[in-house]
Amino acid sequence: MTPAGGLAVHCRGVTKDFGTGDSLTRALRGVDLDVPYGELLMLVGPSGCGKTTLVSIVAGTLEPTAGVVTVLGHDLAAMSNGRKVRFRRDNVGFVFQSYNLLPALTAAENAAVPLLIAGWRRAAAVEAASEVLDQLGLGDRLTNLPSELSGGQQQRVAIARALVHEPRLLVCDEPTSALDAENGRITMELIQRIAVQPNRAVIVVTHDARVYSFADRIAAMEDGRIDSVTSAGEVGRPANPA
Ligand SMILES: Nc1ncnc2c1ncn2[C@@H]1O[C@H](COP(=O)(O)OP(=O)(O)OP(=O)(O)O)[C@@H](O)[C@H]1O
Ligand SMILES: [Mg+2]
Repeated sequence: MTPAGGLAVHCRGVTKDFGTGDSLTRALRGVDLDVPYGELLMLVGPSGCGKTTLVSIVAGTLEPTAGVVTVLGHDLAAMSNGRKVRFRRDNVGFVFQSYNLLPALTAAENAAVPLLIAGWRRAAAVEAASEVLDQLGLGDRLTNLPSELSGGQQQRVAIARALVHEPRLLVCDEPTSALDAENGRITMELIQRIAVQPNRAVIVVTHDARVYSFADRIAAMEDGRIDSVTSAGEVGRPANPA
């Protein structure tokens, strides 16, 4: 078995530099991280420590400068761009920190995008997306455009879009940042129900201490590195290695 066997995500020595010379930013400085199947891992840490950079690399939307990244048993560096796009489409759901909704599509159409890309018929895709939106409390906003939605409503459309095709790896960047406590809880419960399964895994970047109880483990990042990984129930105690 490879070192990554049994793991949904396996990162070793992952670095990421942005820019060169005077404008060089070392966003990641050697990240080692394993996420087993069936786990919901939360990633926490101060602004600018590298959380979005790390989850973008794991989700395959950003290339690392160096290091090994294995996702669902596949070495991302060994994939052609075309294969990586297909792999992402079929296996990864990503909730972007900035939502990235398409402005000309309604809430239900936005949430249906992964199904449409996968070849579903439009009516079936929109119906499936509408069901997820309904579970997130947006049943009365299905035909609104993003510009007609509040920030928290747009955030939930982005979450529905990431969940609708039941991806094996779900990566959420601050999924509850614009939500009140009740909607944050509803969202995390839905993420847990759909995405935390024996052959799936979830990584949630968050600053929201109200949702820490949904984590199996919490990884604390600091200045481009994982500082500590704490198991559920041990938050605040000395860390275990990853
Ligand atoms: N495209 C880019 N070009 C240059 N620098 C970048 C780029 N993207 C991120 N950075 C820098 O890399 C570092 C890590 O950024 P990142 O977005 O990963 O932080 P973060 O932990 O997600 O922060 P936040 O909590 O504010 O979202 C920061 O110093 C940031 O300015
Ligand atoms: Mg970020």
